[in-house]
Amino acid sequence: MLYGIGLGPGDPELLTLKAVRVLKESIKVFVPGEMAAELIRPYVTEEPEFLDFPMIYDEEKLKEIWTANALIVAEYARKGDVAFCLIGDPNFFSTFTHMKKVMAEVAPDIQTETIPGISSITSCAARMGVAVETSFEVHDGSDSNYFIHLKARKPQEIIARFEKEGYKEFIFAERLFSDREVILKGKENIPEEGNYFSIVYGKK
Ligand SMILES: C[S@@+](CC[C@H](N)C(=O)[O-])C[C@H]1O[C@@H](n2cnc3c(N)ncnc32)[C@H](O)[C@@H]1O
Repeated sequence: MLYGIGLGPGDPELLTLKAVRVLKESIKVFVPGEMAAELIRPYVTEEPEFLDFPMIYDEEKLKEIWTANALIVAEYARKGDVAFCLIGDPNFFSTFTHMKKVMAEVAPDIQTETIPGISSITSCAARMGVAVETSFEVHDGSDSNYFIHLKARKPQEIIARFEKEGYKEFIFAERLFSDREVILKGKENIPEEGNYFSIVYGKK
């Protein structure tokens, strides 16, 4: 069985009990990067295996890399439970969704299960000290007054775009819940460039 395990947003204490149990019971643990590895180290004795998913646009090369990674994972998943660990939740903007698709093509005998995690999309509000109280594309029927923009490498460009739509309050955050966390409130305090692990929150 292949488990896609959500590791939460960046604090090892924000893994679920189920995530920790399955991690400990897995015969092999895979991670896509160092941040995921840091989050699981308190719970596993063996170092996880890193799978590289480069951000390139060559579709043929990408397919080759994904297939090779899926086949490596499948080999272990035929012998026992295997954990593929993701930041946040595995079904929100995550490598696991694509991994499942590729797995279904190249190793259809492998069963998969998802263990949800605390997503950066919801947990960023706790660290930023804000709340989301109306629709923000997740609708409860009220007007949309908030946005949460992931992958905020160009925060000022994001702000400029949303200002035109009437948004007035902005918060930028990087590496939330980690010891390198940055939270900057107000457009004037937010830089031009952001790290990949960054979010802009906006409110009308
Ligand atoms: C590929 S998406 C993964 C989202 C993840 N599956 C989730 O549910 O949070 C990567 C983006 O998540 C956001 N992110 C995840 N963890 C974060 C953190 N600790 N601090 C700030 N942003 C984070 C960033 O916007 C980053 O570009």
